[in-house]
Amino acid sequence: MDIATVQPNPLRAGMRHARSVQPCVMVIFGATGDLTHRKLLPALYNLALEQPLPPQFSVVGVARRPFSNDDFRQQALDSINQFSRRRPVNQAVWETFSKGLYYHQSQFDDPEGYESLVELLKQIDEERGTLGNHIFYLATPPSFYPIIADHLSAAGLARRRRAEDDSKGYARIIVEKPFGHDLQSALALNKELNKAFSERQIYRIDHYLGKETVQNIMVLRFGNGIFEPIWNRRYVDNVQITVAETLGVEGRGDYYEEAGAMRDMVQNHMMQLLTLVGMEPPVNFDADAVRDEKVKVLRAIPPLMENEIAADTVRGQYGLGMIGGQPVKGYCEEKNVAPASKTETFVALKLFIENWRWAGVPFYLRTGKRLAKRTTEIAIQFKRPPYMLFRGTGADQLQPNVLSLRIQPNEGISLFFEAKVPGQEMHLRGVNMDFLYGSSFGVEPPEAYERLLLECMLGDSTLFTRIDETEYSWTLVDSIERAWAKLPASAIPQYEPGTWGPKEADALIERDGRTWRRL
Ligand code: BG6
Repeated sequence: MDIATVQPNPLRAGMRHARSVQPCVMVIFGATGDLTHRKLLPALYNLALEQPLPPQFSVVGVARRPFSNDDFRQQALDSINQFSRRRPVNQAVWETFSKGLYYHQSQFDDPEGYESLVELLKQIDEERGTLGNHIFYLATPPSFYPIIADHLSAAGLARRRRAEDDSKGYARIIVEKPFGHDLQSALALNKELNKAFSERQIYRIDHYLGKETVQNIMVLRFGNGIFEPIWNRRYVDNVQITVAETLGVEGRGDYYEEAGAMRDMVQNHMMQLLTLVGMEPPVNFDADAVRDEKVKVLRAIPPLMENEIAADTVRGQYGLGMIGGQPVKGYCEEKNVAPASKTETFVALKLFIENWRWAGVPFYLRTGKRLAKRTTEIAIQFKRPPYMLFRGTGADQLQPNVLSLRIQPNEGISLFFEAKVPGQEMHLRGVNMDFLYGSSFGVEPPEAYERLLLECMLGDSTLFTRIDETEYSWTLVDSIERAWAKLPASAIPQYEPGTWGPKEADALIERDGRTWRRL
């Protein structure tokens, strides 16, 4: 027997192409909020438009405002008109989609509101044929997560005991970030959710995992033969991960004061990028196989000792200045920010993954708001070749090869290498071999939320964070936060908007004889 015909291609098995979505109802708590408006409703409409969603698909928006179904439909139309990737609205698709939109007015802690929600879901299941499949999306402030989970359970909507048997319809819950504020609160929140839902029913969102270019990290590494052999400490000198934004805190001062760049970006998005770059090949693309490998990476990062914190981490806060020729406020002048706030809006740090693949290879991470450019990039910088062959040719220093994965914008991948400048002399110059998503595929990638909502409907949690991933990244972040709390305020220097952060961040990497990539 030809083995190739019986063994599934693991890439294909995990990234099943034509998967079909069962009819279901998505119940969105926080239906009049910003996330629903900007992201969720446009994403659901795009899924309806591009047809992975069956016509029976329905949405129940739950919030406190006294809206009618028609008000909610109008809000949805406004959201789509303003934020959808595909515009103008397709009338025929909108007609079908909007018939499945319902509004349910309720306080999140009112038991009666949940009793009437049970009735409404029964009615929708019967009238629209949604088969008892229910997804609960918590787009509310995190303090409501345990309250809502508890009430859903009391109303019999969580169906925890039947979690392994979806034949009478499934119940799943999607939880937005932040998942806790530190390890202890994340564990406490998880305990509360677990009273109502099993781990298999919980989908913790990290929207970076829904980005097309982030998913492509695995394809690049494991769908090609040439990268994996050199993807290790023998060939890689260092890895730099940059997530830079030009925006400030955008009216989210109250949330950001509690979070800072470390909890807002490093604990979740940057750790996801790091684990995807650092992980071993999974045995297949099943949710647990992939996440087992990601967790191993996190387990191999030793929490930083207090004496390492001062050398290997840098914080900063943006001051007053200009971005793109426009004056911008300093962080401390932003709404709902304490005038003497010590919250960091910039973080740079150096980490090691202590395993056989990566021992001794520094991973430099930096993220910040109000930086020079909006860009997210992972750069794998390779060791320099010995340059004696080119001695005396003017090429006194060969540049290292760099493979850069541009996550956003200008999504693509570049390989930097040396080439001979045409002419009689032996002159070398660095050039780029470029792959650009836009020009290669000519299609616009779906929004991260589209992919993630669809995956949840399909019951595939590969692109969601498992509880142990959350635990290990909080353990690391907590060790840093604890040490930071003991440092003086002068440890948070201000930086000018439109720059690459405080000069201390340059010093962090220059001490190792390296520099940050100029992006
Ligand atoms: C969010 C953070 O999770 O990610 C924001 O809370 C940040 O502060 C945003 O701006 C960045 O996402 P993206 O997709 O624009 O890189």
